[in-house]
Amino acid sequence: MNSPFDLDNTEGYQRWREQKLAAAPASVNELIVEVRDPRALTPAEHAALAGCVRRCNMAIYASAMHGEDTDIPRLLGAQFGLKQLDSNWLAGDDGISEIRVFDGGTRQHYIPYTDRPIKWHTDGYYNPPERQIRGMVLHCVRNAASGGENQLMDHEMAYLLLRDKDPRHIHALMQADAMTIPERVDETDGVRAAQGGPVFSLDATGHLHMRYTARTRSIEWKQDAATLAAVAALEQLLASNTPHVFQALLEPGMGLLCNNVLHDRGAFTDNAAHPRLLYRARYLDRISDE
Ligand SMILES: [Fe+2]
Repeated sequence: MNSPFDLDNTEGYQRWREQKLAAAPASVNELIVEVRDPRALTPAEHAALAGCVRRCNMAIYASAMHGEDTDIPRLLGAQFGLKQLDSNWLAGDDGISEIRVFDGGTRQHYIPYTDRPIKWHTDGYYNPPERQIRGMVLHCVRNAASGGENQLMDHEMAYLLLRDKDPRHIHALMQADAMTIPERVDETDGVRAAQGGPVFSLDATGHLHMRYTARTRSIEWKQDAATLAAVAALEQLLASNTPHVFQALLEPGMGLLCNNVLHDRGAFTDNAAHPRLLYRARYLDRISDE
């Protein structure tokens, strides 16, 4: 394999690294594309969003479509090759989850369905290998009265900055037993067995995939010096003032289209008359390169 993410491919990595840094957005504003109808993009809108994704694995569309319609994220995603929805047991019948505050039932026990902050993670880090989440659309129907912003970081840039710091961090985070989710009841599968795996891995086409959570409960890191040092370096990177972490507040009609990049969410306060509502569509597919 000739992937720049292969630790043995120094030359390929250096070439990729230079291009990556040269193309890196300087501000979140470079990622926002105004679109008339996310369900049916014009060729220019599609090209602008695809261009952002090529640079940093994410793009934000901004539209005036404020309605409650799960077709918006579904049809937007389909235009980028996102088709295999990973439905979980709390998603709606159509496989798209409503992210809002639930005061009763099972959902109130899971942080996404509360108004509390969510630490840095990639989605579906607890999924089995055959159901890794590669693509995602997060569409805002209503925002909170205050808060609820997201921090975003391209996982390839996190890889780059960690590899620059010390390639041994990458080696440690690519170990097949680096990160284990103990057996528990979770949002996706109900009761499920312990799930071990790497943080960084390459898919069949050489693309980089990342599993990560900054949670300290319900997660077991491999207890060796190299893994613990790498995890600490990643935590430091995410808490640093690197210009490669973007802050975004999705407003009604806006949405994030991404290859499951690193993200978090700030706490928020709802307006009781218009509580925050986001649709989350998770896909087994990556955004198509075309
Ligand atoms: Fe998430």
